[in-house]
Amino acid sequence: MTTAIAHPNIALVKYWGKRDAALNLPAVPSLSLTLSRYHTRTEVLWGATADQVWLDGRAATPREAGKVFAFLDLIDPSRPPVEVRSVNSFPTAAGLASSASAFAALALAATEAAGRPLPLEALSALARRGSGSAARSLWGGFVAWELGERADGADSHGVQVADERWWDLALVVAVVSSGPKAVGSSEGMARSRATSPYYPLWVEGGPADVERARAAVLARDLPALGEVMESSTFKMHATMHTAVPPLLYQAPATTAVLHEVQALRARGIGAWSTMDAGPNVKVLCASEDAERVAEALRPLVERVDTLAPGPGAHLL
Ligand code: DP6
Repeated sequence: MTTAIAHPNIALVKYWGKRDAALNLPAVPSLSLTLSRYHTRTEVLWGATADQVWLDGRAATPREAGKVFAFLDLIDPSRPPVEVRSVNSFPTAAGLASSASAFAALALAATEAAGRPLPLEALSALARRGSGSAARSLWGGFVAWELGERADGADSHGVQVADERWWDLALVVAVVSSGPKAVGSSEGMARSRATSPYYPLWVEGGPADVERARAAVLARDLPALGEVMESSTFKMHATMHTAVPPLLYQAPATTAVLHEVQALRARGIGAWSTMDAGPNVKVLCASEDAERVAEALRPLVERVDTLAPGPGAHLL
């Protein structure tokens, strides 16, 4: 058994849209923060009696297992049967996407188990094939996912901007609802690209947003990072809203949280919102302000979790 651990990440500048769906190549670069506390732990037995996938202690559905086996085939098309056991330390109730930590941990554990270890960049490009955001979970702290230029996607991988000790920030997760999302990311991205008149504008603005965010991280300039993060979020959601039919991931409580974050800022607390393809709001602030932010949001939502920058994927 080979075991790997990977942590989820939250995009500060968003990935939304693919230029190549088969290779999972993004239409825009993105920049994320890897998170502490929560992780996926994945065990791989390369050369088992039969192909098997266990997720959080239950047998995977045929659809889930099919995704895992297709991914393992990328590592070795004539592979032996493989057993995969994956457990999330975070309850789905945490309201965080798990595909990033899942495919980062699987890529690391499976290549090692297969006796085909890869350098981090190649591992990131492989994890990307499972789920785009997984390309960013190989590193800790702040990670950019570059567009790349090559047709085979080998240069579309993560690059660490600064590690998890660089900046003492907090990400306060306001869990509005922990249920599964109505429309998955891949489908939502395809619909946005095909139908939203704002999509070309969204794609055009991506590289400049990543550069602004990278500069803000390196300068430890929280207002600048918060501003570009909110801007990227709202541009992505404008693209979602203007798809046909519209993609409306927010719930009523989502809007209440967004207003409360603006009110906190008006009172002098440096807090900025981001949202992904779901109703939960993640609020970026200095760690010393995290408790005040959490307190303000708690009455509005199911639960609040406070996370910090976390480490990259590693073998046990
Ligand atoms: C809104 O990485 O889940 O969270 O590549 O289709 O698996 P696939 O998509 P996924 O999309 C994440 C979209 C997002 C923004 C982000 O994480 O950058």
